[in-house]
Amino acid sequence: MRSVARLFFVMISLAMLPCVGNALDNGLARTPPMGWNSWNKFGCKDLNEKVVRATADAMASNGMKDAGYQFVILDDCWQTGRDASGNIVADVERFPSGMKALGDYIHSKGLKFGIYTDAGTMTCAKRPGSIGHEYLDAKQYANWGVDYLKEDWCNTLPGQNSEASYTLMRNALADSGRPIVFSICEWGSTKPWLWAGPIGNLWRATPDIQDCWDCKRSWGGGGVTLIMDLMSGIESYSGPGHWNDPDMLEVGNGGMNKEEYRTHFSMWAMWSAPLLAGNAVANMSADTKEILLNKEVIAIDQDALGQQASRVKKTGDLEVWSKQLADGGRAVALVNRGPATAQISASWTDIGYPEAVSASVHDLWTGKDSAAKKGGYSAEVPSHGVIMVRIKPQ
Ligand code: GLA
Repeated sequence: MRSVARLFFVMISLAMLPCVGNALDNGLARTPPMGWNSWNKFGCKDLNEKVVRATADAMASNGMKDAGYQFVILDDCWQTGRDASGNIVADVERFPSGMKALGDYIHSKGLKFGIYTDAGTMTCAKRPGSIGHEYLDAKQYANWGVDYLKEDWCNTLPGQNSEASYTLMRNALADSGRPIVFSICEWGSTKPWLWAGPIGNLWRATPDIQDCWDCKRSWGGGGVTLIMDLMSGIESYSGPGHWNDPDMLEVGNGGMNKEEYRTHFSMWAMWSAPLLAGNAVANMSADTKEILLNKEVIAIDQDALGQQASRVKKTGDLEVWSKQLADGGRAVALVNRGPATAQISASWTDIGYPEAVSASVHDLWTGKDSAAKKGGYSAEVPSHGVIMVRIKPQ
């Protein structure tokens, strides 16, 4: 009888855990989160309530919301200190209406509210971190109507364990009474894909993105090509509810040309990556809008199978990336990292089809359909450019 009681106790305990198997089971982010984050454009200095409200207004009216962009996320520098009870306090000069009112405003536009903290004593910009205050902070966020939390990894204590720290915040969020998407941001430093599946809905797999095609910083950050290399090989860890995150978008911030931004956006969609615009969306050029609002490319990102593309062929600077789609088709990206236009071919066997298959090919940037192809697909690709197609066997 005692062992029956024990078994019952174990079963109840298991049922209460917020995760099952190796993926967080909070029911959120079944497709990669889409939205906007303040950091890449506004950094610390320029983040304020006016910018956030103008962004929400723009997203609700410029087609972004209709295209699936949902979260409006305040990154570092919204917080200044803690009150006598330990509650986190927002910067009253920059956010005079307060966080609850800002959340209400974002919600009134049919969008969702995201916020940022840090697992250490201070954020990267030296604002208060959440260590020792996880449950208090999670409750506060829930009271403000927060729907998404990004937790960074600056100023941690010597020896602080990433898996344990993020588990604590996962549990605090689960206890907060509000569904909150949990974004882990330790920059890929402790190979989070190996441990974060049951803890976060997404985790940064790479250091901070730079607004450049192929630059590399001494501290590890870099442009699109660096991230392409880091994302190759970890695709099996990503899927519905638990995504590898190659960092936020730079499209529209001015450091790359149109071809490069198109490749940047295409690759993020190929990887089923979170699509968090990082530009001034209230004031976008037509080119930037055309990229961020390409619904057919977004559909590849949001495909229900949630597969992260693999690099199936690399010949010097010429690469073929492929991902399976829920309808049995494939999304294929032919990417030219080199300095001159080049021909790139993907054979059906490269992308997991028998050679004899006849398949339709739809170009996701030009909208053109090619007559049914056998054996493979080949195209001229401009320098730093991409040809991204959707392939369907007939
Ligand atoms: C780290 C993160 C960035 C951003 C900044 C804010 O560098 O990786 O995405 O949140 O901190 O300080």
